[in-house]
Amino acid sequence: MAGPGGAGPGGAGPGEAGPRGAGPRGAGPRGAGPRGAGRPAAVLVTGGAGFIGSHLVERLAGAGHRVRVLDDLSSGREDNLAAVRGDVTLTRGSVLDPGALGAAMEGVGAVFHLAARPSVPESLSDPGGCLETNGRGTLNVLALAAKLGVGRLVYASSSAVYGDLPAPHAEDAGPRPNNPYAAVKLLGEHLAEYHRLSLGLPAVSLRFFNVYGPRQSAGGAGAGVVPIFADRLARGLRPVVFGDGLQTRDFVHVRDAARALALAADYAGALAGGGAASLPAVFNVASGRSHTLLEVLEFLRAGRAPGGPRLEPVFEPARPGDPRISEAAVGLAAGRLGFAAEISLAEGLAELAAPPGGARA
Ligand SMILES: NC(=O)c1ccc[n+]([C@@H]2O[C@H](COP(=O)([O-])OP(=O)(O)OC[C@H]3O[C@@H](n4cnc5c(N)ncnc54)[C@H](O)[C@@H]3O)[C@@H](O)[C@H]2O)c1
Repeated sequence: MAGPGGAGPGGAGPGEAGPRGAGPRGAGPRGAGPRGAGRPAAVLVTGGAGFIGSHLVERLAGAGHRVRVLDDLSSGREDNLAAVRGDVTLTRGSVLDPGALGAAMEGVGAVFHLAARPSVPESLSDPGGCLETNGRGTLNVLALAAKLGVGRLVYASSSAVYGDLPAPHAEDAGPRPNNPYAAVKLLGEHLAEYHRLSLGLPAVSLRFFNVYGPRQSAGGAGAGVVPIFADRLARGLRPVVFGDGLQTRDFVHVRDAARALALAADYAGALAGGGAASLPAVFNVASGRSHTLLEVLEFLRAGRAPGGPRLEPVFEPARPGDPRISEAAVGLAAGRLGFAAEISLAEGLAELAAPPGGARA
């Protein structure tokens, strides 16, 4: 179980590891995290009021970190941080605003950069806006972190960088971005590598596959398939499936994703110093198991209260550019970060679909 009580940078929870194998060992005890003047340094989460960010913030705050969040609330919500209100400093501001970014990053020991416009369709209709927020915004965060000597940085990239390459997707295959969102996420990875290798910023990129779980939005251009299906079923409406429903995705629960971010920060901290240039710094975050969209529907139905109507999907034509099979190679993250997903799709979807306090089918 992840969530509050787990450990991120500065934590010492089980399973939080530094680099595995031959690698740098100069960053102190495993999981020791950023420290300053005898107490853990503050950490910054950009986009921390969003879906993944808010779960990470809960995890970090639960491990005793002083967490700052910089979020323009364009798709994130203050309510997402309700469980940690009082423990976390939320600044409403943009990574595109140097003043807001500078104030938020001053004195922090670690940065998690999740702020982005996370939508492929929106990137197609407004590629310049995507480049500005996801590209310029990432450059701003990296450049300032390098200037301030931040001890570790984790950047949220995406499996979208693999485009339509054949699965399973390994970090050293491709990439082949086929939309502006994917291209700019890849740009962010390259910028992170430049800052790591040339400017000494210990930076790691995580390629998230299909993250799902509580607080994921069912509306807006960036909405995921799981909340859309769950929302339709909850409202007694037939879910819409594009294509035959047999296309697969590699789903990873958001609490697992938050744990991966914390592990990546530990790894990044140990990348500082000489000898680390040849170590990998880009990792898939996924379960390594792919499921069809029809299976997702079945799992959601299984978690619902018995007695309701069986809502069969409505099939619409497949959307151009949607990959047929998405499945990650997860060996590198397991070997180097010590990360393996723990929450199965059946468990995660049953939790999502269950009526509050109610019985399951
Ligand atoms: N959810 C997934 O399955 C998935 C998959 C791959 C990658 N990612 C990446 O993970 C990160 C988090 O995604 P999410 O699913 O939580 O989306 P989200 O929309 O819930 O989170 C993004 C957050 O960034 C904030 N934001 C946007 N522009 C900003 C700006 N200029 N300055 C400050 N804050 C800004 C939003 O308000 C929001 O809170 C993103 O970088 C996304 O590209 C997510």
